[in-house]
Amino acid sequence: MKLTIIGSGAMAIALADGLSSNYKIEFIARDEKKLKDISKIFNASYKILGDNDITDKNIILCVKPNALEAVCEELNGSARAVYSILAGTTLKELKSNISSRYTIRAMPNVAAAFGASATALTGDEVIKDDAIDIFSKVGESIWLNSEKELDIATAIAGSGPAYLSLVAEALMDGGVKQGLKRSDSMRFVQVLFGGFAPLIASNHPALIKDSVMSPAGTTASGYASLEEGRVRDSFMKAVESAFKVTQK
Ligand SMILES: NC(=O)c1ccc[n+]([C@@H]2O[C@H](COP(=O)([O-])OP(=O)(O)OC[C@H]3O[C@@H](n4cnc5c(N)ncnc54)[C@H](OP(=O)(O)O)[C@@H]3O)[C@@H](O)[C@H]2O)c1
Repeated sequence: MKLTIIGSGAMAIALADGLSSNYKIEFIARDEKKLKDISKIFNASYKILGDNDITDKNIILCVKPNALEAVCEELNGSARAVYSILAGTTLKELKSNISSRYTIRAMPNVAAAFGASATALTGDEVIKDDAIDIFSKVGESIWLNSEKELDIATAIAGSGPAYLSLVAEALMDGGVKQGLKRSDSMRFVQVLFGGFAPLIASNHPALIKDSVMSPAGTTASGYASLEEGRVRDSFMKAVESAFKVTQK
């Protein structure tokens, strides 16, 4: 199957990274220099945005939500399928801007470039299996039954790498503040995240925490400081604010 990626930004490239070994890729975007460069990397073809025929194509839409109208004005014909990764852009808005037999909303994250995205999906059930197959090439696909759930997932999976980056940087700075060399502190955090991935994949977080926290120990003391700083509350509020943005 050939996939047409519209856009040439960070997510277009992250997705192409995982998809190009399984699908023939075509890019459509406005920046010719960028198009030339990325097409070489992914052995893809490209077209410059402007009066493009999308008849029967399978499109992955990767532009900014505020560019939807301008971009769709340049597209003619009716696609077979549109997989849109535009945050907060509803199926209704997509269908009124771009003609396609089927429309899917997908919410991957930047880990797609490493085949490790958690991608939320919803939309036309007829192509549910196609959608799951495509996004499984860049990580794990999770089908949801409503757009509201996809918007909530956006606030966790889409934005999550930014939230975890904040945790990583804060831990790193904490190590430096206590006297560890920055390069050592950074390496400890990098390995910590790598080691945590298999742990969280098969254990409830509360059990991992309990297994590390001994009575009156170092972790118990550090954990109490996090609670004092209302870190749990802050993360829950972060998910709430991100979700609210998708509802505007
Ligand atoms: N970044 C994430 O972690 C993430 C995760 C999930 C979903 N998303 C969604 O992915 C989409 C793309 O995000 P991104 O991070 O890849 O952004 P990005 O790196 O800024 O790329 C945006 C792309 O949209 C193009 N574009 C913007 N305005 C345009 C216009 N008026 N006409 C034609 N093309 C236009 C840009 O073209 P130029 O390069 O020529 O400016 C670029 O190719 C967004 O809708 C976002 O909601 C992002």
